[in-house]
Amino acid sequence: MQRVLVVGSINVDRILQIPQLPLPGETIKMTGLTSAAGGKGANQAVAAARSGAQTTFIGNVGADADGKMMRQTLQDNQIEIGAVGVTSSTVTGQAYVLLQASGQNSIIINSGANDLLTAATVTAQAAIIEKQHFIVAELETPVAATIAAFRIAHQARIPTILNPAPARANLPAKLLASTDLIVPNETESASLTGIQITDQASMQASATFFHQLGIPAVVITLGAAGCYYSYADQQGIIPGLTVPVVDTTAAGDTFIGALAAKLTPDFSNLVAALQYATQASALTVQQMGALPSIPQQAAILAALA
Ligand code: ADP
Ligand code: NA
Repeated sequence: MQRVLVVGSINVDRILQIPQLPLPGETIKMTGLTSAAGGKGANQAVAAARSGAQTTFIGNVGADADGKMMRQTLQDNQIEIGAVGVTSSTVTGQAYVLLQASGQNSIIINSGANDLLTAATVTAQAAIIEKQHFIVAELETPVAATIAAFRIAHQARIPTILNPAPARANLPAKLLASTDLIVPNETESASLTGIQITDQASMQASATFFHQLGIPAVVITLGAAGCYYSYADQQGIIPGLTVPVVDTTAAGDTFIGALAAKLTPDFSNLVAALQYATQASALTVQQMGALPSIPQQAAILAALA
């Protein structure tokens, strides 16, 4: 069974439904308030686990009701949470999602316990890291912790997958040196490369930029248009699937987790694994919400058949 470790973020999403964003100085009423499990790391881990991977999490929550709920949610999804720390010095991460009547989202994050994940905590889990087939990380937790995990993985020849989200203008050289596969969306890619994604030539140029930084495999997700991949002598586009879209939240997280669950560590089945991830995320966008919308392997395989 594929073993996937996610070193990443755990948040509770508080979804505030509002008519439109308040103007400076304006007070408005919300029309609804819901809470849901989230955080890029938690979403990616759930996607991997629901695609059949034996999934382990390294992260941090607060000693509060949110933290309890999130640990339970991960556990309910068969994710090993022995390395999910509980801190009493701050709260579980929260994402305030300002959901406007237009369907647009504006998000404010209180990182809380995610910010307390350290390189030392990760290094203490070296024995777990060395047992994996893939290590997955994004940028919602401190980059020093991710570097520590990727270095241990690299020395043990375990491939690493980096989702460089939220977008940044640059990444530390130490992180790039131990990243085997980078999976940005178009915005994240443009922030890092300075190249706007417009056509296949710009995708190729972006991939070349990442290859020159020492990253062997690049997958740029293109929203409804699918994804572009570049690895060794294989380059191409996997078109997105045309589906009735309800809510694209967690599309990218589903894509990463599903890919990590299906990709062979030598990347030899890259195109097939990307087709699986494309189908997985096409199912996610047809359901409301983040974590609850992440599909199970059986549904993905049935849709592919
Ligand atoms: P993110 O959610 O990180 O911004 P993308 O928007 O690029 O990432 O979406 C990730 C993947 O989800 C895409 O590569 C695609 O396969 C799938 N996807 C996203 N939006 C749609 C859509 N509207 N219709 C079908 N598939 C989609
Ligand atoms: Na969704």
